[in-house]
Amino acid sequence: AQAAGVSAARPIPIGSAAQIETFRADPRYREALKRYCDVIVPMNDLKWEALRHDRARFDFSGADEIVAFAERNGQALRGHALLWGEALPPWARDMTSRAEAERELVEHISTVVDRYKGRIATWDVVNEVIRFEPLPGEPMRDTIWQRLLGPAHVEIAFRAAAAADPKARLVLNDFNFEEPGAGTAARRRIALDLCRRLKDKGIPVHGIGMQAHLYADRPLDIDGLENFMVELGKLDLDVEITELDVIDWKLPADAATRDRAAASLVGTFLNAIASVRRPKAIVTWGLSDRYSWIHETFPRQDKARARPLPLDADFRPKPMMAVLDRYRRGQ
Ligand code: G3I
Repeated sequence: AQAAGVSAARPIPIGSAAQIETFRADPRYREALKRYCDVIVPMNDLKWEALRHDRARFDFSGADEIVAFAERNGQALRGHALLWGEALPPWARDMTSRAEAERELVEHISTVVDRYKGRIATWDVVNEVIRFEPLPGEPMRDTIWQRLLGPAHVEIAFRAAAAADPKARLVLNDFNFEEPGAGTAARRRIALDLCRRLKDKGIPVHGIGMQAHLYADRPLDIDGLENFMVELGKLDLDVEITELDVIDWKLPADAATRDRAAASLVGTFLNAIASVRRPKAIVTWGLSDRYSWIHETFPRQDKARARPLPLDADFRPKPMMAVLDRYRRGQ
């Protein structure tokens, strides 16, 4: 029972990224998506690489399938990502002029956002535009967009998205906001500056997406995170947790220990955020340990499988799911 006068925290939508190959192949995965998600984001099918094999036509097949699934199940949808420097088809990587890049970027965003207007409620308008290790005077990551359009690529993207769906929530999405250190603090500052600049120009931006790929062997900068949330509040910006998982490649092999450590880390992280600013959503980057980008990207010395997600390889809930469920139920 709630202590008298302490209002129960409102439920926070929980969700996951849906990977189309697995979605098509594994009914248990579809069942888990239906059961555990209030919100779904196509993991890869709204990226340029998936939509734009050839320049002449858009291939929405994968995205449409996942969008239809979510709509059938009354689940909300996030879109990922209208502008990214990766997962681009060769013709986009090879663009050479400012005029070409701006024309293609605006046409792409207008076409994609218009198609899902009123259906995809939130968009990662730009993904990972901040330099991994920011240099003085050089905050922006070196991508084709930055090279051809300069820092203006961020506002061009947000303007195009807002014009295509004035009701959509528009998010600046990035990673590595969570750890101690000057570099991470700089990334947090740059993210806030980019959003402040958009707002000063009257360009709609609604929130910052924290990917939150957490490292089980690294500390969290709790003060840094709490201050980040205070600064977001001052700018009237939401926070979304958009790609939560735990990179546990440096933890001891025994699964139960790793699962408990991952759940504890996720709990500490979410508490640092939610104690100051309530996330609009908490989305994990996949649902089951059976399918995760982390297996290939962070292989363990002992070759044991990574255990990054809330369900195990047989879709059974792990301690991490209990942590998420408390937020889902509003405790
Ligand atoms: O769809 C093609 C398939 O036709 C082809 O046969 C196959 C082999 O080449 O590749 C398939 O595309 C792969 C795609 O995933 C779909 O499975 C790409 O090669 C592969 O690079 C892509 O990896 C994704 C990666 O982003 C790059 O887009 C991962 O699944 C996805 O988890 C990862 O997610 C990113 C977020 O978007 C941004 N934040 C970091 C996160 C992890 O890297």
